[in-house]
Amino acid sequence: MSKTIAIGCDHGGFDLKAEISELLTELGYEIIDCGCYSNASVDYPDIAKILCDKINGGECEKGILICGTGIGMSIAANKIDGIRCAHCTDTYSAAMAKQHNNANVIAIGARITGSELAKCIVKSWLESEFLGGRHAARVEKIMKLEN
Ligand code: RB5
Repeated sequence: MSKTIAIGCDHGGFDLKAEISELLTELGYEIIDCGCYSNASVDYPDIAKILCDKINGGECEKGILICGTGIGMSIAANKIDGIRCAHCTDTYSAAMAKQHNNANVIAIGARITGSELAKCIVKSWLESEFLGGRHAARVEKIMKLEN
């Protein structure tokens, strides 16, 4: 399994991106930092696009997007073919996002979710495996909605 992961944020998620990046490094991940690189205001769809292109281009298999609420990033990411982005506010959803939905991206809201919970969410998602079987058939149906 690839130990490379992409992470991206807008200005609302800049501080949390640093904390989650630290965790990812501790867990042995190589990080592709898709920006932004300061607290200056940026548009979250631009960052979502950069990160999702890394996944679709084969540079990594997973990504984490952070904005103020996690909503804008997840909406933007889910517009991009090949991306299944789960907006997570709890650890159970994060685990299910992988086990049932095979989410290749999660979105977190830095103004909603505290940094310690955010780190637990990330760990829960990363430690989970896709269960396949009936879930695979459903995920295939999701992907067919792109056409
Ligand atoms: C930026 O102010 C804010 O709108 C953004 O971070 C995000 O919450 C959008 O969904």
